[in-house]
Amino acid sequence: MKDLKRTKIKELLDAPVIGKKVNVKGWVRTFRNNQFIAINDGSTINNIQGVVDFENTDEKLLKRITTGACISVTGDLAESKGKGQSVEIIVENIEILGDADPEKFPLQPKKHSLEFLREIAHLRVRTNTFSAIYRIRHAMIFAVHKFFTDRGFYNVHTPIITGSDAEGAGEMFRVTTLDPANPAKDEDGNINYKEDFFGKETNLTVSGQLEGETACMGLSEIYTFGPTFRAENSNTSRHLAEFWMIEPEMAFYDINDNMDLAEAFVKYLVNYALDNCSDDLAFLNQRALDDEKTKPQQERSELSLLERLKFVAENDFERVTYTEAIDILRNSKPNKKKKFQYLIEGWGADLQSEHERFLVEKHFKKPVILYNYPKDIKAFYMRQNDDGKTVAAMDVLFPGIGEIIGGSQREERYGILKQRIDEIGIPEKDLWWYLELRKFGSAPHSGFGLGFERMIQFVTGMTNIRDVIPFPRTPDNAEF
Ligand code: 4AD
Ligand code: MG
Repeated sequence: MKDLKRTKIKELLDAPVIGKKVNVKGWVRTFRNNQFIAINDGSTINNIQGVVDFENTDEKLLKRITTGACISVTGDLAESKGKGQSVEIIVENIEILGDADPEKFPLQPKKHSLEFLREIAHLRVRTNTFSAIYRIRHAMIFAVHKFFTDRGFYNVHTPIITGSDAEGAGEMFRVTTLDPANPAKDEDGNINYKEDFFGKETNLTVSGQLEGETACMGLSEIYTFGPTFRAENSNTSRHLAEFWMIEPEMAFYDINDNMDLAEAFVKYLVNYALDNCSDDLAFLNQRALDDEKTKPQQERSELSLLERLKFVAENDFERVTYTEAIDILRNSKPNKKKKFQYLIEGWGADLQSEHERFLVEKHFKKPVILYNYPKDIKAFYMRQNDDGKTVAAMDVLFPGIGEIIGGSQREERYGILKQRIDEIGIPEKDLWWYLELRKFGSAPHSGFGLGFERMIQFVTGMTNIRDVIPFPRTPDNAEF
């Protein structure tokens, strides 16, 4: 009997064969009345119930069936008489694979706070909420590759250790093998990076874009999907120090083509989740509804999670220029009543997340693509518009999230790019290869970056980004 091949719980529930002898392995969620075990193996949000003949089972064994224990159960599949499940296993044999001392195991069958679960991130995947998030995250990874593969894009691995600061924001983690207590110094007493591992200063990448552009200049349409690191000291519910970014880069696309692709891409991901993650989404939808009930009326969202997803999938995003947005914001109630923390005085101001959220959540009530930003608040590589003031940048803003995508048409004209690099003061020795792309067979091209965790936040409805990545890295926190 022990040799019976294990069946995944999802398979049993999707296509049950009544009367068939089966074996499942998984973790005990609950054990009721010394009789009913709810077992979960992570293949689905749903548990299978094992029914134990407790009168004929060793009491010592029964005591070891506790929440969190790992067990192997064998028995016949039968139609269930109880409510809540259609089939169950009439248990013939139980084996305890791993005990979980109920006095010590921190997860109990009750609602734990998300804050508490973050402290036990090594165990939280065993809850319904986190297993659902992990599964949806996987589905979204797959959907990203499918979306681009179906359109003839090639996936490119760009370096994680890099010598260039793509975003020019200087928020980088240094990579070095120099001895911090006694680093090599040059004649002037400065740290001598020539003695370092790579013979120069290197950092963890803040974006694969610049290297991605090199690939697009030969393959036409590429995308990267990799870890991204930013040492910005922002302890918000939308920032991680280590996150994953998807960066497509397309030759022969202008800013409008870029916006079209970005909109099609996020809609595809949302639809993919709706079509393929319905059990997990139904669970998270209910979870959010229950959560809302504890909030005061005015803080509750107008739409449920599932309604928000359908809304985004079905409606066109609003496309608005930065200049139009500034007019809207300047004349808005919170600006006039000085409710914004950063008041909008005039053209040129950088938009804060309070402004982005006002536009999306209050004014347009739908996702917004803002484009044509002032060049001084955007990165050096963005294409300058003919007005001399703006660049062909675009940000996609989402309800509850704010900026989910940032991108632009790229400056493909050598002279203009070179001038901008000099103006900003980026050393040419760092970007000579990037400039060469504009010297040899340059082409108009565009791209953008989607913050993967922000997308997962939107799809799962989780309000804190720390809850959509298995082990979040944030200021003062690198546990696990
Ligand atoms: O707007 P960003 O900085 O754009 C770039 O890095 C470009 N190189 C992208 C490109 O054009 N290829 O970042 C892109 C997205 C943001 O819109 C946001 O969703 C996400 O990355 N992001 C973060 N997500 C989590 N934590 C952080 N600290 C993030 N910083 C940016
Ligand atoms: Mg941005």
